[in-house]
Amino acid sequence: MTVHPNDPLLPEAKMHIALPGAPVVARIVSSESCIRGKSASFVRHIGIDLSGTPLEGTFLAGQSFGVIVPRIDSKGRPHKVRLYSIASPSYGEDGFGRVISTTCKRTIEEIPDENDPKRSDGHPLILGVCSNWLCDQSVGSDILVSGPNGKRFVLPTNPSDHDYIFMATGTGIAPFRGMIHELLVGPPAGSPAHAKWKGLCQSKIHLVMGVPYRTDLLYDSWLRDLASTHPNFTYHTVISREPLPQLGHGPHTHHYLDARLDFFGTLLESKRTLIYACGLAGMQVGIFKTLAIAGFGAQYLTVHEEIAAIAPSHWTTEQIKRRVRPTHRCMLEVY
Ligand code: FAD
Ligand code: A2P
Repeated sequence: MTVHPNDPLLPEAKMHIALPGAPVVARIVSSESCIRGKSASFVRHIGIDLSGTPLEGTFLAGQSFGVIVPRIDSKGRPHKVRLYSIASPSYGEDGFGRVISTTCKRTIEEIPDENDPKRSDGHPLILGVCSNWLCDQSVGSDILVSGPNGKRFVLPTNPSDHDYIFMATGTGIAPFRGMIHELLVGPPAGSPAHAKWKGLCQSKIHLVMGVPYRTDLLYDSWLRDLASTHPNFTYHTVISREPLPQLGHGPHTHHYLDARLDFFGTLLESKRTLIYACGLAGMQVGIFKTLAIAGFGAQYLTVHEEIAAIAPSHWTTEQIKRRVRPTHRCMLEVY
């Protein structure tokens, strides 16, 4: 990938200190619902104490960690590792880098039966193995943790050199909770991280958060409070399934960006701006297409020559997935 003068300088992230085959034993120290209202989804903010393990102090906001469920799967093998983004800042929840956190959504699905309405087992409920195990754990339980994972989805070394557009769907908010904490709140007074802290970040920060219903918003009151006390921070909520004046499905995060290009245009044009997108696999397709159609492709995207002559409005999902890549100014974490 070509490096341009406006590309961010990123810190050296530590990786794979504990492998899934040799995880550390950590401890759950908190677990509370972080969803705004009564909802069909269940999402918990879970704190994990890494004290005394080689993982203490190693995570940067934006990285993820592995959880290994200490059970055997249906084939008699150990469960495979599942990754979770940390929702804590780089200095941890405690300012010492000992306590990390995540935003875990219980995976609950009914196996669709449209292809076989007479299937012998009916249409059973699937409870995701790891997310439900993690959400079931009480404070004080042991947990097997690996990581850190990921090196590019992190804040730049000098955060004040840039402005930010953070785009999240659902639990994709996790890394932004940590990053926004780092930019706008800072480490607890008296902690070692506080002594080294560069102070509140004055950069422009926009969080565009997409959920199905208003009740599904995560960390909502914390984010609203921050937006009301920091004029440089704007919290945009994008609700997809609530009734609209006209018929049709509500907006996704890229529709919101597109509809408000009058507002975001200047920011997207600026050499300082970085885009971070985290959440549902596929959310990048809409974002890339919106950016390219609006004429911001050169800053944030690398387009393969095979589709360079095609107007972005005609790009197919498959072409975008295979032939468009983000530049260093556009960070992506989708799952
Ligand atoms: P699994 O048991 O792995 O099931 C997953 C899916 O497999 C089910 O939804 C279903 O579609 C299918 N399936 C399972 N069993 C059956 C069956 N018997 N029959 C048919 N289909 C079946 N998640 C978060 O909540 N928060 C995060 O911050 C987060 N960050 C992530 C970061 C990264 C980098 C990545 C890669 C993933 C992240 N995830 C996050 C997702 C997380 O890793 C898990 O994938 C998620 O929690 C589901 O895992 P599970 O073990 O609960 O579900
Ligand atoms: P939808 O109503 O179409 O499903 P959650 O993880 O809590 O379910 O929230 C995911 C949010 O992301 C929902 O509002 C969902 O809308 C939306 N969404 C679904 N697909 C995409 C996509 N491709 N790009 C952006 N947002 C999406």
